[in-house]
Amino acid sequence: YSTSKPFDLVVVGGGPGGYVAAIKAAQLGLNTACVEKRGTLGGTCLNVGCIPSKALLHNSHLFHIAKHEFNDRGIDCANVAPNLLKMMKHKEKSVEGLTKGIEMLFKKNKVEYFKGIGSFISKNQIQVNDNNGKNNILDAKNILIATGSEPISIPNIKIDEKTIVTSTGALSLSEIPKKMVVIGGGVIGLELGSVWSRLGAEVTVVEFLGNIGGSAMDLQASTAFQKILTKQGMNFKLGAKVTGVATSKQGAKVNDTEHIVSIDDGKNKSQLHANVVLVAVGRRSFTDKLGLEKAGVQVDDKGRVKIDKHFKTNIPNIYAIGDVVAGPMLAHKAEEEGIAVAEQLAGGYGHVNYEAIPSVIYTHPEVAWVGKTEEEVKKSGVKYLTGQFPFLANSRAKTNADSEGFIKVITDAETDKLLGVHIIGPNAGEMIAEAVLGLEYGASSEDIARTCHAHPTLSEALKEACLTVHGLKKAIH
Ligand code: FAD
Ligand code: NAI
Repeated sequence: YSTSKPFDLVVVGGGPGGYVAAIKAAQLGLNTACVEKRGTLGGTCLNVGCIPSKALLHNSHLFHIAKHEFNDRGIDCANVAPNLLKMMKHKEKSVEGLTKGIEMLFKKNKVEYFKGIGSFISKNQIQVNDNNGKNNILDAKNILIATGSEPISIPNIKIDEKTIVTSTGALSLSEIPKKMVVIGGGVIGLELGSVWSRLGAEVTVVEFLGNIGGSAMDLQASTAFQKILTKQGMNFKLGAKVTGVATSKQGAKVNDTEHIVSIDDGKNKSQLHANVVLVAVGRRSFTDKLGLEKAGVQVDDKGRVKIDKHFKTNIPNIYAIGDVVAGPMLAHKAEEEGIAVAEQLAGGYGHVNYEAIPSVIYTHPEVAWVGKTEEEVKKSGVKYLTGQFPFLANSRAKTNADSEGFIKVITDAETDKLLGVHIIGPNAGEMIAEAVLGLEYGASSEDIARTCHAHPTLSEALKEACLTVHGLKKAIH
């Protein structure tokens, strides 16, 4: 490949951060290339993350309600059984459709797509090795690092992605395990633990902290969430550390294999038996084979590419976004950063409001939040108020016989400005958008309480939660 003139922008990594940045940059008139080594676009999110997990979450939920609820709902339905092969095919079809869709978007927007491993030769040159011995050298005025992240493991555990798996293996198990131990009660552990629990596995989640969902989750929401998941059949061992996994029987199939998971909760040591062990203890930035040193790009003590608030690394024409930099590892965060970089390069002003990035756990019910937790607000010393409304008092949730959970609103006691919104409930992931918009526009709880919400909808619960904020118990229902 020879470029007569350098690209305005070469993006390394075709995940949600990279591909969105590339499309936006091309739309804004920049001559743009994107390098991706995976063979398909969409990154972790589309290939082995957000999308396949949501396909399995949705279908395992449908199976679960068909088996446990349909008869009560007036849908006579006998012998409901999961067909794992078909469920996996459905998942693969969703992934394929979406990843190919991005290739089409690249063509439509005239982003040049290079398949292969990208690495720095200098601060203005990326070499693309296409694995067939062919090397392309791309000259670039600007380079965007969007190489994402990879799962981490814990010492003494050897991942084989068959029965000792990361999220990647857990999205493609060949059999429904009888027993599964999940190490880590964060987002991946809870989502994928739910999938296999619904399909029939006996799932135990071992979590180091005293609560599930990680430290970014409001404690009240986390406690309620754990109760709900426990009722659904998941088991939790909190405040406990996995110290090792030994394989006592290695079979050809998932359920012919047995692992012994050793646990230490500080007081007692115990063991759990499992056919599958899912290691979900976090992810780390991925910069292998990127040759950052050739361009002189610095990383921090956790290996994350260091950037300033304009996404610029220590080298002025090199930028970085998404999972490879600090901040929440979320697809929509990576996308927003990608757009901001493209806008800056095209001469505009790009900005990401980190105070208004939603988090969603796609279990059933879903958990979603934006802004600060009550613990964070308390710690900051700001005087605050809270309002809360249960879905049990929401007509739509009641009618749907799907009324677990609540909405909690935290506001500044003096200004009534929204500080945080926490939802556990059906469709929480969709409903949180209203709260995100509220935070983005600096809304008060009264603004939302005075906004007309359609009836009967779940979203009325947010209006009612806002009505209760002033401690006046002013909710209508
Ligand atoms: P990535 O998506 O990781 O993309 C980086 C890409 O760069 C990869 O395709 C990689 O192959 C490529 N690459 C790396 N090095 C090179 C190189 N040298 N040359 C060429 N290419 C290279 N987030 C959500 O917001 N919602 C969810 O529901 C959600 N679910 C998830 C479920 C799971 C199981 C997992 C694992 C993650 C999930 N995430 C979710 C997180 C989300 O996937 C990431 O935050 C997101 O993908 C980050 O985007 P990115 O573009 O920064 O990196
Ligand atoms: P995580 O950081 O969310 O959770 C890891 C959990 O493991 C933490 O609670 C931690 O305390 C625990 N842990 C660590 N070491 C342990 C040990 N030795 N024993 C027991 N517990 C231990 O990481 P996770 O779940 O792996 O997810 C990675 C990233 O992927 C997250 O940052 C998340 O943002 C993203 N993701 C997002 C999703 C979404 O938005 N719905 C879905 C899935 C992943």
